Amino acid sequence: MKSAPSVPSEQQFGDNPVAVRETDHYVQEYVESFVDKWDELVDWDRRASSEGDFFIRHLRERGAKRVLDVATGTGFHSVRLIEAGFEVVSVDGSAEMLYKAFDNARDRGHVLRPVNADWRWLNRDIHGVYDAVICLGNSFTHLFSERDRRKALAEFYAVLRHDGFLLLDQRNYDAILDHGYSSDHLYYYCGEDVSVAPEHIDEGLARFRYKFSDGSKYHLNMFPLRRGYVRRLMNEVGFQKVTTYGDFQQTYSDEDPDFFIHVAEKSYGSDPNDPGEGGIVRERPPSRPGARTKDAGDTQGDAKGDTR
Ligand SMILES: C[S@@+](CC[C@H](N)C(=O)[O-])C[C@H]1O[C@@H](n2cnc3c(N)ncnc32)[C@H](O)[C@@H]1O
Repeated sequence: MKSAPSVPSEQQFGDNPVAVRETDHYVQEYVESFVDKWDELVDWDRRASSEGDFFIRHLRERGAKRVLDVATGTGFHSVRLIEAGFEVVSVDGSAEMLYKAFDNARDRGHVLRPVNADWRWLNRDIHGVYDAVICLGNSFTHLFSERDRRKALAEFYAVLRHDGFLLLDQRNYDAILDHGYSSDHLYYYCGEDVSVAPEHIDEGLARFRYKFSDGSKYHLNMFPLRRGYVRRLMNEVGFQKVTTYGDFQQTYSDEDPDFFIHVAEKSYGSDPNDPGEGGIVRERPPSRPGARTKDAGDTQGDAKGDTR
């Protein structure tokens, strides 16, 4: 692993935390003490039973063997996939996270293959070709400019084999922006003694607070990605077919899911005559009368909200 940039011992958002809207800030948000608590937040056993074999099934159905986990965090998915027999390389831009992931894997009898790299320059450090890239745990939300999002997606696209695919998930920010926040923590952040809630929401920032049972508090500043916008970007960087699930289900109503999971494929899919809308396949119930034909947020831009 390369030497990491120095990370302060405490989170620093300055005098005006809601003004912190930069992609590069994520590295210093994952301070050692927060990383140490991350697994309390995630609760590996509960998370494993809530998501079941969703990701493993998608990887196996498409014949994936080599998987690049680009948002390793503390290693939850890397370890699950190693245990399921996949060949995994584990990337993260935060060295703190990778140290923890390495220890977590070792404690379970595995040797992680960590690479400390930023998605925006992924191909500088990753030279192999992968069947699948996974970017899970609402990680893509850390990118604050459209330029960074396009670059990261293009880098993911480039490490994939000719018919490879990307699994990328995100919070249902559409529901939060349009209807307010509610979550019963059934799927991702399953820890029982942790409270997770947004402290500030606008079209360019979702600032979440994570409060632990010992009274400690941490924050993450994230960009509230709209579902339709992410799908459009994926399509525009070259993914031909994007299928979106809501809380691991194929059919859902727009407001219900806490999280969306996108499966973005490089190949056209089995039916060349039915590429969906601009190549985007919508896994949603049939439209209601008068329903929108475009997803809200198709035109979302960056932290400055440029093109709405
Ligand atoms: C919310 S955590 C999720 C971790 C893990 N996937 C999980 O579900 O528990 C987001 C992770 O993405 C990483 N990350 C965010 N932006 C990144 C970037 N531009 N390049 C590389 N890693 C990044 C962070 O360091 C962090 O480990």
